[in-house]
Amino acid sequence: MSEITISDSLTLPCGAVVKNRIGKSAMSENMGSKGFVSNRSFQTLYERWSDGGTGLLITGNVMVDQRALGEARNVVIEKGINDPSLKLWSEAGRKNQTHIWVQLNHPGKQSPKFLTKLPVAPSAIPLKKPLNRVFNTPRALSDAEIIEIITRFAYAAKVCKENGFTGVQIHGAHGYLVSQFLSPTHNQRTDKWGGSIENRMRFVTEIYQAIRTEVGPEFPVSIKLNSADFQKGGFSKEDSMAVVKHLSDLGMDLIEISGGTYETPVMTGTNVKESTKIREAYFLEYCEEVRKIVKTPLMLTGGFRSSQGMNAALATGVCDMVGIARSLAINPNFSKELLSDKDVTSLVKPLTTGYPFLDRTFPLEIVWYTDQIHLLGKGQNPNIHRSPLRSVFSMVLELGMNALRRVRG
Ligand SMILES: Cc1cc2nc3c(=O)[nH]c(=O)nc-3n(C[C@H](O)[C@H](O)[C@H](O)COP(=O)(O)O)c2cc1C
Repeated sequence: MSEITISDSLTLPCGAVVKNRIGKSAMSENMGSKGFVSNRSFQTLYERWSDGGTGLLITGNVMVDQRALGEARNVVIEKGINDPSLKLWSEAGRKNQTHIWVQLNHPGKQSPKFLTKLPVAPSAIPLKKPLNRVFNTPRALSDAEIIEIITRFAYAAKVCKENGFTGVQIHGAHGYLVSQFLSPTHNQRTDKWGGSIENRMRFVTEIYQAIRTEVGPEFPVSIKLNSADFQKGGFSKEDSMAVVKHLSDLGMDLIEISGGTYETPVMTGTNVKESTKIREAYFLEYCEEVRKIVKTPLMLTGGFRSSQGMNAALATGVCDMVGIARSLAINPNFSKELLSDKDVTSLVKPLTTGYPFLDRTFPLEIVWYTDQIHLLGKGQNPNIHRSPLRSVFSMVLELGMNALRRVRG
């Protein structure tokens, strides 16, 4: 056992120091403005979080191609988009020596029909029923297109650095494009991008290397990676360990561990065993195994609710940071409270509209927490008493019915 607690700072391989061991995991804000740019609400939101004591703020996923959005109102960083608010966003997040890293993403086939008619993916394989009602069958990317997407990630990382963000994270989890390349189910290519795990990880490896070339050795580069995608024949624990080892050897600064995809949405606790929930961290056992093979800082995300749970995970040395998402959407000061040495527990609880059909149809966890994030962005306080039914209705009004069918966990 070590004596590390959430209050201790963490020095990353690149030399950057995070002031404590609490990381805000990415939550898509869904509040970009016309032209895919950020706005004042991002500044208000991130200032709130940096005042709340969290050491590392990872933004919601920012897309690298406006033709490939994961959700309505995504921010996009690509050539031709000039976003003057980025600097103010990073400034707000940097307050109090807080780190703010941008999560960069390409959704691949997980771009809903109402946003993309013909999505792209490693192979032309549709998502399983009933998700195929929401997502069109993708077409396979050409070799040249794959290389172009890699350059997009690198360009976006460069823009993040130029605009004052203190790091970037590649979204390699939850079934998006990087994760699709890693999966033997979704990647059935027979060229150098598919087949063996060495080939399947070529895409993420080249993204990492291209980003590193742009941002240099002293800028934090991270990845959020699945422990597995929990699908028969899919990205396995062994595959995941091989990717972790390889990216660690290349100099990755922080690996955030999560799991699941839209097809098996375990990342927010859906279908996670009750015993696992009680122990708090959903992916703790996997993290224990990874710890044995790499020294790279690990951030474990999913299910942490109490200071005891977090400190217990850090004390065993299994992870170096704890990642928290939903608790910070309903209490931006949660980290400050955790760091105050008192026993603190999150108010995250199961959500229901009271109508099982609606609960099955809509991604309540996403809809309700996005609503809370929007309240914070407007400078208001979160409202834990807000009815999930109201969140469903207000988002249906805003985005339309199609945008809301169950797509995420
Ligand atoms: C509203 C919402 C939006 C999310 N958006 C993202 C995202 O953009 N990128 C990502 O990697 N994970 C996203 N997640 C998943 C969280 O980062 C996290 O992995 C998950 O909520 C489990 O952590 P928790 O138990 O502390 O909430 C999102 C979760 C929620 C609730």
